[in-house]
Amino acid sequence: MRKLSENRLVIASHNQGKIRELRDLLDPLGYELVTAGDLNLEEPEETGLTFEDNAKLKALAAAKASDLPALSDDSGLSVDALEGAPGIYSARWGGPEKDFNIAMGRVHRELEGEGSGNRTARFVSVICLAWPDGHMELFRGEVEGAIVWPPRGNQGFGYDPVFQPIGFETTFGQMSADSKHGWKPGQEQALSHRARAFKMFFEQCLEGPQS
Ligand code: IMP
Repeated sequence: MRKLSENRLVIASHNQGKIRELRDLLDPLGYELVTAGDLNLEEPEETGLTFEDNAKLKALAAAKASDLPALSDDSGLSVDALEGAPGIYSARWGGPEKDFNIAMGRVHRELEGEGSGNRTARFVSVICLAWPDGHMELFRGEVEGAIVWPPRGNQGFGYDPVFQPIGFETTFGQMSADSKHGWKPGQEQALSHRARAFKMFFEQCLEGPQS
């Protein structure tokens, strides 16, 4: 596992919700952060068929174009009764306007149509750290929960208002950013998929001896 020794890092994303969450998680660690947008980097087309492939292609494109290490997140909502949809197509269900009211409504409608009454789902996040020489490390985090209707809360982004993690009475849309992450450096537990993947990245690429 390669450690991150540089202190300047690119956040390889153009998604403001994700950038905010990754900044929250990275800020206490003292890195100088720039986003793909700050550097006018093009957003690569997500042609992969897995979260891992898309995370890799985004991080690698940003690392090569900026000559800096780059951190990407490819993530999405996977609904069991919909055979894992929207999955890697989660962003695309928002349409060209990225309207997640439309995307949440489609999840609800398709679940109603499917009719089994099974509302279990998970959020998945795959974080990739890539270096300009092409080396990459991957970390996957998941959180289990259920789809609720109607949507509740206006915090977070994307599908947060319809996702209630197991063991909670509130959706991610009703939680503060800190509660949704549920993690700080040194803490054992993390809640969100992104914080779970980030905790692994933190423990394996930032802490401990070089291996
Ligand atoms: P991508 O990784 O850029 O392909 O987009 C992931 C999409 O999944 C986002 O646009 C959101 O719609 C959804 N998503 C990923 N993580 C979250 C989350 O933490 N909350 C709500 N929606 C999310």
